[in-house]
Amino acid sequence: MHDATALRRPNAKIYTPAENPRFAALHRRFPTVAYLRRHARRKLPHFAFEYCDGGAGADGGIARNWNALDAVELVPRYGVTTALPPVDVELFGKRYSAPIGVAPMGGPSLVFPGADQYLAAACQRANVPYTLGLVGGMTVERAAAIAPDVLWFQLYRCSRNEHAIGFDLVKRAEACGVHVLVLTVDVPVRTTRSREVAVGITSPFRPDLRMLAGILASPGYLRSLLRHGQPRFGNLKPYTANDADVNEVAAFVRREMGGAFTWDEIAKYRERWKGPLVVKGILHPADAEKCVALGVDGIVVSNHGGRQVEGLPAPIDALPAIARAVGGRARLMLDSGIRSGLDVARAVALGADLAFAGKAFLWGLGALGAEGPSHVIDLMIDEMKSAFGQVGAFTPGEARSVAIRHPGALHL
Ligand SMILES: Cc1cc2nc3c(=O)[nH]c(=O)nc-3n(C[C@H](O)[C@H](O)[C@H](O)COP(=O)(O)O)c2cc1C
Repeated sequence: MHDATALRRPNAKIYTPAENPRFAALHRRFPTVAYLRRHARRKLPHFAFEYCDGGAGADGGIARNWNALDAVELVPRYGVTTALPPVDVELFGKRYSAPIGVAPMGGPSLVFPGADQYLAAACQRANVPYTLGLVGGMTVERAAAIAPDVLWFQLYRCSRNEHAIGFDLVKRAEACGVHVLVLTVDVPVRTTRSREVAVGITSPFRPDLRMLAGILASPGYLRSLLRHGQPRFGNLKPYTANDADVNEVAAFVRREMGGAFTWDEIAKYRERWKGPLVVKGILHPADAEKCVALGVDGIVVSNHGGRQVEGLPAPIDALPAIARAVGGRARLMLDSGIRSGLDVARAVALGADLAFAGKAFLWGLGALGAEGPSHVIDLMIDEMKSAFGQVGAFTPGEARSVAIRHPGALHL
């Protein structure tokens, strides 16, 4: 149990929204991520909101992720201190300002043009991890110029020609100073998202009249589209014909990419990539052990934000069993359903070193444009401090000794 005397930190800095006038002003209008989501729904073209917000099937996985996080209770201990704790964290040899980061996303510029660069810039400013998705809208080289200190890079399986493209991407990542390479394993099959189908998001992507009308009725989106141009798959351009347009690159993606990395393939990436290697999408403790055995440095416990198949467990429920199986031999991270600093605190208390969010950052972009991602980070840090301060935890280690009620914990 919790050693209350360990909680005294004389230099603990009290951080409140009032300290930062920009945050305070935004905080009055958007005091939680839920407000950003509501505003994004009103401001974005309908297809863009549906692409960002929808999950597999009838959104059952998204609801489960949220409900499972909401069900985790942290039991506070009082009587020691009134200060708010610092929330910085060490991960893979770097110190980040908070245990929160941006999850890799494909096509975020469909949600808000220029999304990748706004997300990267916000993370660099705040000193928290930014993960560029392979099918994001900018090249890894450009991301390295915007976010040199916090850049992680995610790959899907491109297995043709003995992984020629995948291994070339590893070289490019190394050459431009990517800190962490992330291999996503939880997309073994393609999925259909009903809300995307209903608004006409298909591949190849052909904007229809409804979409064009939606864009014209969304001035912030239109301005950003005029500034940044159509969404692109920057990373894959070098492997396609010189004049390939976005749909030809999309066809290339469908042809070249597919299936999840096998353990043998992960071992090959482990040989080639000398930096920290993370596997994303693990939900079973036995798979986590397999990662450790292959020399993987970190695991993201994730169900892809409920976007694959809606019958998967919520990662927060799978986390304790995975933490027990891994036993400190790899760093643990979590995503899927994170909407607040309290959710991050729950993940940390249950064994994660850091939590990522995807949709929350896109809602921020939809509501506030370029300023959105910073506001989401500020909100989460503020809420995290309150949560840790309330339960009396001043380091992630102390957070792990907080008493927890977790009715949904998975026992396999
Ligand atoms: C629009 C969108 C696109 C995504 N594309 C990718 C991707 O290309 N690669 C990947 O590993 N995960 C992808 N994800 C999943 C995220 O990395 C992350 O697992 C998920 O968003 C976390 O759940 P949350 O949205 O509830 O925070 C995507 C998520 C969203 C919302």
